[in-house]
Amino acid sequence: MNNNSNIGVFDSGVGGTTVLKEILKVLPHENILYYGDSGNAPYGQKSTEEIQKLCCRILDFFIANNCKAVVVACNTATAAALDKLKNTYSIPIIGVISAGVKGALKVTKNNRINILATPFTVDSNAYIKELRKHFKSFKITQEGCPEFCPMIEIGWETHPDRYDILKSHISHLSQEADTLILGCTHYPIIKNDIERFFSGNIVDPARETALELYSLLRLNDLLNTSSKKGKVEFFVTGDKKLFKKIAEQFLEFEIKNIYQIDK
Ligand code: DGL
Repeated sequence: MNNNSNIGVFDSGVGGTTVLKEILKVLPHENILYYGDSGNAPYGQKSTEEIQKLCCRILDFFIANNCKAVVVACNTATAAALDKLKNTYSIPIIGVISAGVKGALKVTKNNRINILATPFTVDSNAYIKELRKHFKSFKITQEGCPEFCPMIEIGWETHPDRYDILKSHISHLSQEADTLILGCTHYPIIKNDIERFFSGNIVDPARETALELYSLLRLNDLLNTSSKKGKVEFFVTGDKKLFKKIAEQFLEFEIKNIYQIDK
């Protein structure tokens, strides 16, 4: 492993491409392997043990494919498995939840924070625990949205009832909150529709995650020193045609190197 080695980025499906997009802006010379485990999605309704097992398989894949660092571009996997992965593997690994909190701290004025996430992330209280490290006076309202990931994975626009479902979940959030954290990496894909029903600050952890990755690579002297544009390869355990279609819409570039692998 050396500075030109790959960076592994993974999610339960297409959601992590919202983090990948920011990583490509901050670290354009890095070679990236994106793993979308859409064949095993959604993670949000699985057990901790199931999610940890899936994440270890993905880390084993990254290690076998010359990765120098890994981004868990999935809030659910971060909540369920980040500590286990960091204790099991020697390469640097970061998640997305601390980045989401950092983003919220930068914008909230009244410390009243709403969080949309998967049921697993909500039930784990991972965001509440991370927020509490900074202030005690936060008022936090969380809402688990089990339908969103499966809907986004097959095409958000294909669901005529999407606005009713979205409005119903957002109606359970606090009206006093001035900030909403998108606590699932799939949700920035539907940010424009979320903005129809929430007019405050909307925090997408992706940018802060990319900046955290830059700092991590620099700290460990692992930055790729090439001046060439890095290569991005996609490995998906579900339908690669569907993944490519949804991911290209958000990434706004053609995906050339995509491989379907066993789930
Ligand atoms: N993108 C994942 C997250 O950030 C969704 C997990 C799932 O598949 O439910 O939590």
